[in-house]
Amino acid sequence: MQRRERFLAALKRAPVDRPPVWLMRQAGRYLPEYRAVRAVHGFWEVCQTPELSTKVALEPLRKFALDAAIVFSDILVIPQALGAGVSFEKGEGPVFTKTLRTRDDLRGWHTNNLIDRLQFLPNAVKHLSHALENQWGLLGFAGAPFTLFSYCVEGGGSDDFRLARSLMATDPGLARDTLNVLADAAAELCLAQLSAGADAVQLFDTWGGLLTREDYRAFALPALNRAAAAIRKSGKPVMLFIKGGMHLLEVLRDVEVDGISLDWRTSFAEARRALPGKILQGQIDPVLLFASEAIVRERTKQLLSELDALPDGGAQGCIVNLGHGILPATPEANVAALCAEVAAHAH
Ligand code: CP3
Repeated sequence: MQRRERFLAALKRAPVDRPPVWLMRQAGRYLPEYRAVRAVHGFWEVCQTPELSTKVALEPLRKFALDAAIVFSDILVIPQALGAGVSFEKGEGPVFTKTLRTRDDLRGWHTNNLIDRLQFLPNAVKHLSHALENQWGLLGFAGAPFTLFSYCVEGGGSDDFRLARSLMATDPGLARDTLNVLADAAAELCLAQLSAGADAVQLFDTWGGLLTREDYRAFALPALNRAAAAIRKSGKPVMLFIKGGMHLLEVLRDVEVDGISLDWRTSFAEARRALPGKILQGQIDPVLLFASEAIVRERTKQLLSELDALPDGGAQGCIVNLGHGILPATPEANVAALCAEVAAHAH
């Protein structure tokens, strides 16, 4: 099977010769070519210049046996376009100049013509789509509402996002209204990427696993479903990544996305049992890529046999990926070994 054909078949849960593979953060700092581009261009400049964005998105496809590309962007383009003033230049995670803590802060968000200020992202998708010549699948993405909310309230990264989660408890009305604004922005941005040529989109709920089942159901899920329902009108699939979401599998039965991207602690077998009919993606531990090449090959083979043995269709409807993004110091040879092992599994 050809790469894009395999990726599209997996998204339809149709038969495949082997599961397709792509890796979260496959274009990034572990690649010297990416670091070389960043040495001369700012992060937002790369995102907003189609030639640069395409260049860094193509780099991993040249090197590794991957079946799909992901457009080069960031989930924080939405807070940035809302006026939060997001920068990465200090190399210690994102920093916001404006946080959202009050009703007035929400009123101050620049929601008018939001999609116009985000036009660079569908433009990047269009540019990348031409370069791929239909040979690779193409993913667009956006932040899931709760994860965007967490960054906006906290004003950057955090271990526990205590300000964001305590705001949900102290002012649930403000939290819900904010989540809805973010849901609508994410949906509009995903639809624009799908119209520009993306085959599917992924919503990243990196911090969703911090919530109890009750809070996920009460706050994150309604906003997620608001976004997912709007995106699915396009007829194209929506994937959802959650980190640390093993306690949420039961709640995810009610999520209106087509597939779930599992983190490294959540097994395919449990997920298939809890979520019959969903596309499943994941979940090799990104830290494993710091072990030896032989171990990477062995664990990848193990995962592939686990997929073949799954109830309800085996590896059909499965996509191999990591359980979280590739870490910056990851050795390239191990990324190559993982992809080569998946490619060798065809039957
Ligand atoms: O190939 C790809 O997947 C690249 C596209 C991509 C980036 N960010 C580029 C990026 C994607 C899909 C993301 C998603 C993203 N961004 C998430 C969800 C996935 C996850 O990792 O949990 C989150 C939470 C963010 C927010 C974010 N952006 C952080 C926390 C940081 C700084 C820390 C870090 O890992 O560098 C970023 C910046 C960022 N986004 C970089 C890249 C390549 C590094 C910036 C640089 O070049 O200095």
